Amino acid sequence: MRIDILTVFPDMLEGFFNCSMMARAQKAGLAEIHLHDIRDYTTDKHHKTDDYPFGGCAGLVMKIEPIDRLITDLKSQRDYDDVIYTSPDGEQFNQKTANSLSLLNNIIILCGHYKGIDYRIREHLITREISIGDYVLTGGELAAAVMTDSIVRLIPGVLSDEQSALSDSFQDNLLAPPVYTRPADYKGWRVPDVLLSGNQALIDDWEFQQSLERTRKLRPDLLQ
Ligand code: ADE
Repeated sequence: MRIDILTVFPDMLEGFFNCSMMARAQKAGLAEIHLHDIRDYTTDKHHKTDDYPFGGCAGLVMKIEPIDRLITDLKSQRDYDDVIYTSPDGEQFNQKTANSLSLLNNIIILCGHYKGIDYRIREHLITREISIGDYVLTGGELAAAVMTDSIVRLIPGVLSDEQSALSDSFQDNLLAPPVYTRPADYKGWRVPDVLLSGNQALIDDWEFQQSLERTRKLRPDLLQ
């Protein structure tokens, strides 16, 4: 899968995508993550990516031309399944969205900034608008990182134990059960006996019951 991220602050994302699972996924050739600086597609000598809004309200708006030029350039090289705009106005991102996006071949994620982007971009170039939660960030970079991380880790082969993506919280609308590692007894804080029993059927049942109980207690809305 290929993800092209369009931003005026590629440095904000560079480090994130060069670490841990995101780096591993790219090195293994399972995901391609390309960062594009919108500024490179400006045509004026000051490389301006934003301007004052018509109508006189406060703040700056991202200009249409560099973004259109960048998206047009990318689209001339390959087909894209979706051109996503990160925005607090968008549909709320969740595990189901991550699952469906992870099945696509090529997507573009455009990070918004300032007051927003010229609305014509949203009308003519964007196919989907996604929010990562009901709060406002200074820009869409963190939202793009959150979405890309949760999408890429679902690509088969990215996690060393594929099961671990399947048993994630939310994957089946249940929170994950508690996990423990050695030592089995730390200062008298003991790991539940069942996990040391070696009886896989009992362990599976215990984990399922724990998931149900935690979901009922912490996120009852998921069970509805
Ligand atoms: N940009 C600013 N706030 C955002 C949010 N909550 N989700 C996605 N993009 C955003």
